[in-house]
Amino acid sequence: MPDTDIDPLSAVTHPDPYPYYRELAASQPFFRDDRLGLWVAAGPQEVADVLAHSDCRVRPPAQPVPPALAGTAAGELFGRLVRMNDGAAHAPLKALLMPMLAGIDPAAAAQRATVLAAVLDAGEASWAAMSGECINRWLFTLPVVTVADLLGLPVANEGSSAAEAAQRVAAFAGAQSPLADAPAVRAGAEAAQWLGHWLADAADGAGPLPALRQAARAAGIDAQAVAANIIGLLVQACEATAALAGNTLLRLGRDTTQSGLPLDAVVARVAREDPPVQNTRRFLAADAQLCGHAVKAGDAVLVLLAAASCSGAAASERPWTFGHGRHACPGDRLAQALAAATVAALRARGADPAALAQAFRYRPSLNARIPHFL
Ligand code: HEM
Repeated sequence: MPDTDIDPLSAVTHPDPYPYYRELAASQPFFRDDRLGLWVAAGPQEVADVLAHSDCRVRPPAQPVPPALAGTAAGELFGRLVRMNDGAAHAPLKALLMPMLAGIDPAAAAQRATVLAAVLDAGEASWAAMSGECINRWLFTLPVVTVADLLGLPVANEGSSAAEAAQRVAAFAGAQSPLADAPAVRAGAEAAQWLGHWLADAADGAGPLPALRQAARAAGIDAQAVAANIIGLLVQACEATAALAGNTLLRLGRDTTQSGLPLDAVVARVAREDPPVQNTRRFLAADAQLCGHAVKAGDAVLVLLAAASCSGAAASERPWTFGHGRHACPGDRLAQALAAATVAALRARGADPAALAQAFRYRPSLNARIPHFL
């Protein structure tokens, strides 16, 4: 019997969406879902074709900023992100950001995360309870704080400012969801402002930021655009890495045979088999032929990365959850190293994956599969 309780959006937080995704990839690799008002790409070839198509843009052409954020500090910041933009104006900054990220060694990042975990310990009242709340907080804090530290932002000395910066990043990330309510959007706007000041006040430390700022100045790139994209990197590191680490805890808790494997191997498997980012979207800038269908300017395509991932087709080297093509994630190796380091830090502090897997739900989301431990 087909599962009628599931659709391409509810699949993201369904207990086991993978049989559904596999079926879609095999029998409906590209189709129109009239109820959702979206085209859906599910087959690996179709997913790759949409992500490669020059008329498929990361934002609707008439709506560069989500309407709920427009006119707020969060909207202003969002509009400057290279992640959310296909415009030529963003290319020079992107050309500076990508090599900077590529220059971060994932193994060194994992080591740094271990050091920063000890800094965060200072802010914990007690590890004895090891509550779900404490696990959730660490999943959303340690990867973000580590990326901030690797870039040279001042987080390594005080547990509390590190935790506050991570909280603000999470608030800004949360406000970008179409599911965000009015208080979440307000918190996101406040967070954007807070992060802007934090970054402006941060003295030049070690790390690649001073060189990035200098190169940007030399190329005539607006300092505010640089600042926005540094915050953007922390945002990219936030929910998806928390989800990858959280789904790894679930995998370890459900299947004890995995705990003998190196953690990096478990994380890599989770990225393919229970991926943190399940879909992304593209918006047609012009009428076009896409996967054999006539699509119209303004149409939206839901790109099911998770369906491509579990379709059984020869997997590419890169897990689909990190995207493909011009906007593919440049933080993929870093994210996997940070997720493994976060899981290792939590296990070292007594987190029990089997117990965690008994009591969790998925956070409401239309694209990320993020466990929330109870
Ligand atoms: C498990 C963690 C992560 C996942 C699953 C993930 C996934 C993705 C995906 C799917 C995209 C492409 C979106 C699209 O094409 O629509 C993307 C883009 C991006 N990611 Fe990640 N990401 C993760 C962690 C990170 C980290 C840690 C960083 C950097 C510190 C990062 C930086 C970026 C940037 C800058 C882009 C935009 C690239 C562009 O617009 O060309 N990501 N990520």
